[in-house]
Amino acid sequence: MLPKVIINCAMSADGKIALPTRRQTRISNEKDMIRVHELRNQCDAVLVGIGTVLSDNPKLTVKESYVPNPQQPIRIVLDSKGRIPKDAKVLSPDAPTIVAVSEECEHKIEGAEIIVCGKRQVDIPLLLSILGEKGIGSILVEGGEKVIWSFLRQGLAHEFHVFIGSMVIGGENSPTPAGGEGVIREEDIIPLILNNVERVGDGVLLHYGVEK
Ligand SMILES: NC(=O)c1ccc[n+]([C@@H]2O[C@H](COP(=O)([O-])OP(=O)(O)OC[C@H]3O[C@@H](n4cnc5c(N)ncnc54)[C@H](OP(=O)(O)O)[C@@H]3O)[C@@H](O)[C@H]2O)c1
Repeated sequence: MLPKVIINCAMSADGKIALPTRRQTRISNEKDMIRVHELRNQCDAVLVGIGTVLSDNPKLTVKESYVPNPQQPIRIVLDSKGRIPKDAKVLSPDAPTIVAVSEECEHKIEGAEIIVCGKRQVDIPLLLSILGEKGIGSILVEGGEKVIWSFLRQGLAHEFHVFIGSMVIGGENSPTPAGGEGVIREEDIIPLILNNVERVGDGVLLHYGVEK
């Protein structure tokens, strides 16, 4: 069975998820951080793209300060060409890591299980079926904009959670929750179902379902 996919991201009130330089900036407040770490802990795996690893170098573990006795979900990185640095924090021994690469990957990656799927880029539907066979039932996709776009465009996400921080970042080049090529035709716009709106401290959390 294919895993359930939840996308989560934090954006500013003007719809940016990082600085124009693509450097990470804290958008979530403390209450939202607790929510994200609890959500991570409830999922079997947490997934990001190599762009996020290169720009933010996240560890992607559940912090004990937010969740006592965390489960530590499997960390998954989409990295077609194997660009992940040897010292990336996501390869730390704190939790198991899977790096999904394409057939074009020529690099040796240590400290992670490697799954080859896709000719030039990671084939996400194929990856999800492999992960499902491994018993992974739920995946939290945490970014960045290209990866979120791919999941939404290919109809692979079930839920989309967006935290809106009370701030403005601006910048024409700042990343947004969904990047990629976007839709050209109006009929290709991806409809969402607004399931819940919640105030979280000084921010707002939107829960969307994704129409299938
Ligand atoms: N505020 C938040 O919630 C949040 C969370 C995470 C990240 N961010 C921000 O997002 C930005 C990074 O976004 P990004 O778009 O540059 O990076 P990304 O989405 O993390 O990674 C994109 C890369 O993943 C690889 N990839 C492999 N298979 C793919 C597929 N099927 N579809 C899409 N990508 C695939 C591609 O590189 P290869 O072709 O080389 O494999 C692609 O360039 C940073 O500024 C970061 O700070 C914000």
